[in-house]
Amino acid sequence: MNSAHLDDLFSFIRFPSVSTEPRHAGDVAKCADWLVQKLTGIGLKAELHATAGHPIVVARNEHKPGRRTVMIYGHYDVQPVEPLAEWTSPPFEPVVRDGIIYARGSTDNKGQILAHVLGVGETLREKGELPVNLIFLIEGEEEVGSKHLAEFLSANRDALRCDLIAISDTGMIAPRTPTFTYGLRGIAAMEVRVHGPAIDLHSGIYGGTVANPATAIARLVATLHDAKGRVAIAGFYDDVAPLQQWERDAWAKLPFGEKDILAVTGAAETFGEEGYTSLERAWARPTAEVNGIGGGFQGTGSKTVIPRVAFVKLTFRLVPGQRPADILAKVRVHLEAHCPPGVRLEIEDGHSGDPYLTDPHSAFGKAAQRALAASFPGRDLALIREGGSIPIVNTFREILGVETLLLGLALPDCRAHAPNENFPVENFEAGIRLNKALLEQLARG
Ligand code: BES
Ligand code: ZN
Repeated sequence: MNSAHLDDLFSFIRFPSVSTEPRHAGDVAKCADWLVQKLTGIGLKAELHATAGHPIVVARNEHKPGRRTVMIYGHYDVQPVEPLAEWTSPPFEPVVRDGIIYARGSTDNKGQILAHVLGVGETLREKGELPVNLIFLIEGEEEVGSKHLAEFLSANRDALRCDLIAISDTGMIAPRTPTFTYGLRGIAAMEVRVHGPAIDLHSGIYGGTVANPATAIARLVATLHDAKGRVAIAGFYDDVAPLQQWERDAWAKLPFGEKDILAVTGAAETFGEEGYTSLERAWARPTAEVNGIGGGFQGTGSKTVIPRVAFVKLTFRLVPGQRPADILAKVRVHLEAHCPPGVRLEIEDGHSGDPYLTDPHSAFGKAAQRALAASFPGRDLALIREGGSIPIVNTFREILGVETLLLGLALPDCRAHAPNENFPVENFEAGIRLNKALLEQLARG
């Protein structure tokens, strides 16, 4: 590995650019500045665009008529690091152990987007120019739903005009397995609070006299699914596009199945909607997830209290056919209808993003697959969908009118969003190779 490349990645990772936490806003801004410097240093014209949230970084080479225009999108923001005690080494102090880089953002998405930047840098150094007109668009709000990016796209539609978009913010089905992703789930977030008494109460003095909000929220959450894991919200599955038979056949042959899911997750058994494999459930079926739940005493030991309020943070993963606003409305109706007596509900809609599905056999899709094949010689290519969401991808289609190619390098055990997030050095190197092959193939294909 070129040690300067690894040094660059480590510098990039050391910024704790956690977009959801106001106390890190300065770190997010510094990370964006670093990126502008890096992009300028490799010979691109780079600019920082302030938004009402975190800045957007845009960089381009000199555009020439008659060449294809390719946009490469990624994000420099990361998810929170908690629970901190579960990290083997500090999250923002990257280290390599057994060929694997450990740090928050190593996979999602700093390692992957920087591989593109460094690939472009190498091509510029070796050849003096790129085979395409290139635009880098790297934002700082992906992990909070890309709040200000859509506005930026609308306002700068002409400057951002391109023929297609490439993203490495998705996964690889197994090590050294070139993987082309043609679908993503969408997402809709909601926070629900259940209010009870005006103040926290002694559970001995008042227990039995008024409803307990923590009990009420538990009952409410329990109504979201039936006992077999199917979502029990009226109309939730109405618009779900069915899986195609070719997908089911192809996915059944992938080198990743039920056993691998158990190994990676450490769960005792797989669980979910009946009639589908785990991959089918994760990639092509919608879900309702509790991401956080709380209320009452969270400290060590016991405290006899009835909390005045309890909360749950929910996200719904959506599949083609479903629309976030429609799902949030249906969830609201469900929650109001199932609210236990004696408490008041407060429902707040959060961020959302549409699902995405593209044709893996389009001309650009095929060009991307040739680039993947060239980057991993002799390995079978996997065509997959993913369960994760990149909210802006469908907005790219709506505002810029272009399709997105998803060419990720994250492994199933990368621990994205969790303690000990990691990215193999070899995947970082593969990302640099892939960038070069991709621009060459897209210039031709
Ligand atoms: N890189 C992920 C999305 C992803 C992960 C796609 C794995 C495919 C496979 C991205 O950074 C992410 O985590 N997105 C969030 C979006 C949300 C917070 C709006 C997600 O999916 O939870
Ligand atoms: Zn992420």
